[in-house]
Order: sequence, then structure tokens, then C-alpha cells
Amino acid sequence: MKKVKIGVIGVGGMGSSHCLSAKELNETELVFVCDIDEKVAKTKSKELGVPYFMDYKKAVKSGLCDAVVIATPHWIHPEIGVFAFKNGLHVLSEKPIAVTVADADRMIKAAKDNKRVFAVMFQRRTTSFVKKLKEIVKSGAIGEVTRTLCVDPWYRAQSYYDSGTWRATWAGEGGGVLVNQSPHTIDLFTYIAGLPVKVEAKTRTKLHKIEVEDDVAVSLEYKNGAWGYFYTSTCEPATFYMEIVGDKGKVIANGTDITLYRYSVPVSKFTHQSKVMWASLDVKEEKVKLDKDVPGHKEIMRNFAMAIHKKEKLISPGQEGLNAVEFFNACILSGAKNKPVKIPVNRSEYNSLMKGLIKTSKVKKNVRVQRVTDPKHAK
Ligand SMILES: NC(=O)c1ccc[n+]([C@@H]2O[C@H](COP(=O)([O-])OP(=O)(O)OC[C@H]3O[C@@H](n4cnc5c(N)ncnc54)[C@H](O)[C@@H]3O)[C@@H](O)[C@H]2O)c1
Repeated sequence: MKKVKIGVIGVGGMGSSHCLSAKELNETELVFVCDIDEKVAKTKSKELGVPYFMDYKKAVKSGLCDAVVIATPHWIHPEIGVFAFKNGLHVLSEKPIAVTVADADRMIKAAKDNKRVFAVMFQRRTTSFVKKLKEIVKSGAIGEVTRTLCVDPWYRAQSYYDSGTWRATWAGEGGGVLVNQSPHTIDLFTYIAGLPVKVEAKTRTKLHKIEVEDDVAVSLEYKNGAWGYFYTSTCEPATFYMEIVGDKGKVIANGTDITLYRYSVPVSKFTHQSKVMWASLDVKEEKVKLDKDVPGHKEIMRNFAMAIHKKEKLISPGQEGLNAVEFFNACILSGAKNKPVKIPVNRSEYNSLMKGLIKTSKVKKNVRVQRVTDPKHAK
């Protein structure tokens, strides 16, 4: 099988790590690096022994690659993606695929129109943790989902925000924790429990000196009437917690531990059948065993290459990247309006909100540029 020739666009923190994956995998070959920062591009080119570009359009049109990996700041993912699709390339985009739903739509349409493979780097989907949760809910073990809860802290110090001019600004990033850190969790939460149809969010900048939100609490409503709650923040350390509750049981993920609770009878039946005043259901508790994981970023890239060869289904299709964008756009819009917002998000309303917020965005002072990805997520 021929190796898929890959060029990486944006070779800062995360992109550097993708370059190594493309070099190391049997299914791929790294053919160029591209970065608007000449020093970064030259250094990586020398280190990795491949040519460099500073203009993504020249890189895409170079004829050197079959596919590009986009690891630039988020706003520009759709512009580069659409250009790459139109020029016949397959695309693996970093998360989020776009900052706005309208931009995400454009990217998805370009992939479809040009019949190219489109994947998004949601590497958590490769983990046994996510696979088991998905299997449990999909198998019907907990019945129809009646309530959800997800608490998702992503602590960041001020020095993280000071490490890049684009970080945590409306113009540079288009949002805070919802757009940068939380898309991973929003993806797994919506992948497992489905996308709500309505959100009512409180968003604020609580602890950091930044323009965008660092603390978010959201009430959710699903199509079947189920309610949920979602919390994310860069103000709080440890630990991830999720409950998916159904009519026949519930599954609780605490950190990386999963516990499944099975009810003896569905709640909806038992409630009206039992004649005993203090009756309750028997609940059986099971600890869910996890399998060993492979490095997630690399697995997504390997699977992307195999999907290009039509030998595997995508683990993380770019089209499904829209769910996270719908969710966080709805939360930011709801927070700004202080009102509930429906999903799908109104595209033009969201574009107007962003346009206004970008106008308020200021050039950052006290920036100490660092392009280093979180070592915990580098693999
Ligand atoms: N999947 C993950 O685990 C994960 C982890 C970290 C970051 N990310 C994502 O990766 C992306 C990049 O984040 P980062 O932390 O690596 O940022 P970074 O600032 O370290 O690197 C971004 C690089 O893109 C370059 N760049 C900017 N505009 C460009 C353009 N038009 N053409 C070519 N290069 C350009 C910059 O010069 C910089 O070197 C973000 O979208 C982020 O959400 C994903």
C-alpha cells in the first residue's frame, strides 16, 4: 500500500507533534512543513528533513502531498481546509474544525463537493474509555437517556494565556475554554449522549486577564425532553465527571473510572406498577474494565490514511466536528443574550455576534510567545 503524503500546515506546538506522527507511521510520509513564522518553518524543516513553505496556498498547490493536516489557530482552519479540498487534497483538521457554525458548514460542503476525506483530530474517540461509554449507551443498556451531566475542568495558568498573541482573544480565537479546551469533551459528550436542542448558558471571565470566557455553566434540553447540565472552566483543576442516566440504568465516568448501574425494571414501568409505599428498584453496580490505549493523535492520523485508501471508516469524521461547534456557539450566544438558544444555531445571528466581539478585541500586551504543546496531550 502506498504511503499517504502529508504536509503539515502550522507547525507550532501541536503541529510539530503531528509532523513526528506523519514521519513515524507506516501509512504516512511527511513531505513538507508550512508556517507563516519563517523561523519556526525553517527550524522544523531542518529538524525533519523536508522542504518548508510560508504560504499555505503555495504548499497546497505544490503537488507534493495527497493530504494536509491543519494545526494553525482555529479561525483559519476553514479557509485552509476549503482551499485544500478545492485543490483535490484530503484534510485532517485540528479541533475545532471552525469557530463558527457557518464556517464549519463551508468546510463540510467543500469536502462533500470535492469528494475528499475530511477528519477532525478528536483523539479521545480512540480511547477505550470513550469506546466503552459509547457502546454502553448505544447498546440500550441504560435505555432511553433521561438526564445528562458533564463537569469538565481544564485548569490553565495566566502564563498559558500569555504564551500566544492569538490566545483567548475574540479576534485570535473566537472564544475561550468553550472553543479551545472543551471541544474534546463536548465531542465525547455529544458523541455519547447526543446533541441537545436547546441550551441556556452562563458565561463569564472569572479568574484570568483575558477577553473571553473562562467559566461556563449550561442547562441543556434534549429532543426527547431530557434535561442536562454542562460545566467547563479553566479556573478549576481536576477532575472530569460525567453521568448519562437512562430509564433502565445509568453510567458514571469519574476521571477515567466507569461504573454502570443497571435497574431491575425500567423506572417508567416500576413507578406505576409497584404497590409498596417505600418501594424502590434494585440497582446492580458493575465496574467497567478498560482496554489498553494506543497514542490517540497518531491513531487518528493512521485511520485518516486508511480511510483515504478506502480500507477503514473514519473514527472522527470532520462532518461530526460540527456538533462541537453547534454546542459552543449556542453556549456563547446564550451567554451573550442571557437567554436560551436553540440548536441548530442561527448562522447569521452568530456571525453578527462575532463581528461585534471582534471589534472589541485588543492587541495583547505582555505576550511571551511559546509554542509547546501540553506534554500530557502530545501523544
Ligand atoms: N488535539 C489536541 O490535543 C490539540 C492540542 C493542542 C492544540 N490543538 C489545536 O491545534 C491548533 C494549534 O494550536 P497550538 O497550541 O499548536 O498553537 P501554536 O500557536 O503553538 O501553533 C500554531 C502555529 O500556526 C502557525 N500559523 C498561524 N497562522 C498560519 C497560517 N496562516 N499558515 C501557516 N501557519 C500558520 C503559527 O505561526 C504557529 O506556529 C489549535 O486549533 C488548537 O485547538 C489541538
